[in-house]
Amino acid sequence: MAEETRILVVDDELVVIKSAERVLKSEGFQIEGALGGREAILKMEQGNYDLVFTDLKMPEVDGITLIRWIKKSRPNIGIVIITGYPSQETMKEAIELGIIDYVPKPFTPSVLLDVTKRAVQWAEGRKPAEEKGAEEFPPSMAAELDRVIREYRHRPGCLIPVLQRAQEIVGYLPPVVQKRIARGLNMPEAEVHSVVSFYSFFTMKPRGDHNVRVCLGTACYVRGIEGVLDKIKGKLKIDIGETTEDKKFSIEGVRCLGACGLAPVIMIDQETYGAMTPAKALSIISEYGGPAFSAAPSEEDIETVAKQEG
Ligand code: FES
Repeated sequence: MAEETRILVVDDELVVIKSAERVLKSEGFQIEGALGGREAILKMEQGNYDLVFTDLKMPEVDGITLIRWIKKSRPNIGIVIITGYPSQETMKEAIELGIIDYVPKPFTPSVLLDVTKRAVQWAEGRKPAEEKGAEEFPPSMAAELDRVIREYRHRPGCLIPVLQRAQEIVGYLPPVVQKRIARGLNMPEAEVHSVVSFYSFFTMKPRGDHNVRVCLGTACYVRGIEGVLDKIKGKLKIDIGETTEDKKFSIEGVRCLGACGLAPVIMIDQETYGAMTPAKALSIISEYGGPAFSAAPSEEDIETVAKQEG
């Protein structure tokens, strides 16, 4: 899937384009760069792209102007913003315009990859065949969801509480649920989707009994969260955004768990665990049980623990 995805990275700083290129090319994505909104528009007029990653603050044609142009002229292109410290108004405007997600600058490879994978899912989800598969959820849930929509629809700021209740009812927020909510609240589907993508507590995929949230933020990255994440992925045999076959565990990558002083940090369900090491993470996860952990630790695990402790 990655090799078919064409991404245009738009930023007036070449170094940002180059870093995104380095990370995404190694995963097989096709990347091109544009040093501003004007060049990006020229490129989109001449070629096809699935996703555009754009900065907001750029001279001449800025990010918001570019997003407006894409929404009008190339509505099938998914948009992700790459930005430093956006104001609330700018983020609100970008969300209302229907961006898929955002990557905070400076970004870590893990965050960029996580957001990119979700953006690719979004692009895939727009294909009719994919949407068809996601059309089913039990009528009892649909009826309960409709009841919640009716209850909240006239309250200001009702979208987030409705999404929270919907996630409690259905367990996750697939496209079919988002569409039903958009219709019920009389708002664009893109706006609902943007909010779901923006907040890490919403999920578009079913989660396991225990949700392992791994912080991919800068503080955790510099203190070695990648080694922890690799170990968890290897042990559970799933990637970020996936659930184990026995439905016991899911892994989720998040940008910051709000505990940077304890970095690197993971969270399992509602519990936060700081100063994480690969060995500690395995040991904590094993406390949550499940068939995958009933066996004695492997030699590799023992070796990892010994290294960490020695
Ligand atoms: S960056 Fe990991 S908790 Fe903030």
